[in-house]
Amino acid sequence: MFDTVIAGGTIYSPESIFVGDIGISGETITEIKEGGGLEGERVIDATGKLVFPGFIDPHVHIHLPFMGTNAIDDHESATKAALVGGTTTIIEMICPGPDDEPANAFAEWKGLAEEGCCCDYTFHLAVVRFDEIAKQQLRELVANEGVQSFKIFLAYKGALDISDENLQELMGVCKELGVVLTAHCENAELIDAKQKQLVAERKTGPEWHEPSRPRNVEAGGVAHLCEFAQRTGASVYVVHTSCGEAVSRAMEAKERGVDVTVEAVAPHLVLDKTYAELPNFEGAKYVMSPPLRDKEEHDALWIGLANGNVSTVGTDHAPFNFNGQKDMGKDNFILIPNGIPSIQERVDLVHTYGVCEGKIDLQTMVDVCSTNVAKQFNMYPRKGAIAVGSDADIVVYDPDYVGTFKHEDGLSKIDYSGFEGMERKGRSDVVLLRGKVVAGQGKCVSEIGGGTYISR
Ligand code: URP
Ligand code: ZN
Ligand code: ZN
Repeated sequence: MFDTVIAGGTIYSPESIFVGDIGISGETITEIKEGGGLEGERVIDATGKLVFPGFIDPHVHIHLPFMGTNAIDDHESATKAALVGGTTTIIEMICPGPDDEPANAFAEWKGLAEEGCCCDYTFHLAVVRFDEIAKQQLRELVANEGVQSFKIFLAYKGALDISDENLQELMGVCKELGVVLTAHCENAELIDAKQKQLVAERKTGPEWHEPSRPRNVEAGGVAHLCEFAQRTGASVYVVHTSCGEAVSRAMEAKERGVDVTVEAVAPHLVLDKTYAELPNFEGAKYVMSPPLRDKEEHDALWIGLANGNVSTVGTDHAPFNFNGQKDMGKDNFILIPNGIPSIQERVDLVHTYGVCEGKIDLQTMVDVCSTNVAKQFNMYPRKGAIAVGSDADIVVYDPDYVGTFKHEDGLSKIDYSGFEGMERKGRSDVVLLRGKVVAGQGKCVSEIGGGTYISR
């Protein structure tokens, strides 16, 4: 007798797709039976539903001091939103300032997550400071805390960016420690020069954000990262890739033998730059970096997901209120805090605009939103798989649900939705985190702080 049985759903296991039952004992999947017949203390009827491994968001900001303000969510609000959207594990970016010691930053972020996270969590650690103290602490965090990925910014000149000298040395450290280097790829100097020029020409509205950092500035950043990766042998992961040109630079490097993986994020797959051109400063809601592009770029990313050139879909959840935060840039787009949150909407956006429109199949959705993330960041098969021995993080998904995305349904603290009124197909019907039902049908019932740190 199992504690819980998920009965009669179409199960997406790593080997195959079949109708059957999943038996859960405690926090773990202990049996999977094609055709069904398992008995449990509690039975969740999944007939007619799809059964997926819990989704994993590889790119989340919650505690984020950035651009003169702080992102508006706390760990409770962001991770309740994640769970309702079927995401049971997040990878949050630890983004310290240039004077902060990495060890203090790790302790600060982990402390906040322990208090508030309702889903499981782990971290990418941004390397902004890189002196002898920082280098020593980075090594210790890898050895003692299970940190397995660092993050660098080639953008955000003077705030978060890294010099080429430090980039080269850091890649050597990553290679030696077996750590993946994730990277925001845009050329900081070119953006800075273009922004100055546009502002001097009184081009100060949110619609000028995209022209200030065009596609070639992003593609050049990817090429730069890959050049260094080729020289050092480090494994690199390009976050929030917005356009075909950037994907191509990464794939060219891959052909030369560079170990590079490409991430897309939900806003770039479904929103285009016309949103940032909306009147009355509404466009500020759609300012993120890299920026929203022409609609044609959506297909470049979906094709990349379908053919494997793009391996993962995250969110880059970075919520800043329209009133009181985005409006810091009312007179100058450079001051608009960057971010379009989507931690709750990600999976349903991929289902609606990817699967239902025939751009990717369901197996690819599972791979890019869960399994590939777990594999890339050393959590597989504990996470990212419906398999015996894996954590019982499971989403019973209703593909027939039809509705619209609405701000009022959101559990994030953000005061708007970037997807307001857009058509929605599909919804997480029941979400389990390590065997416990934590969310479903738009509601979260999880315990605050019930998430666990995943040491990798
Ligand atoms: O616009 C974005 N992406 N905001 C969050 C910070 C970052 O660059 O990831
Ligand atoms: Zn970024
Ligand atoms: Zn980010």
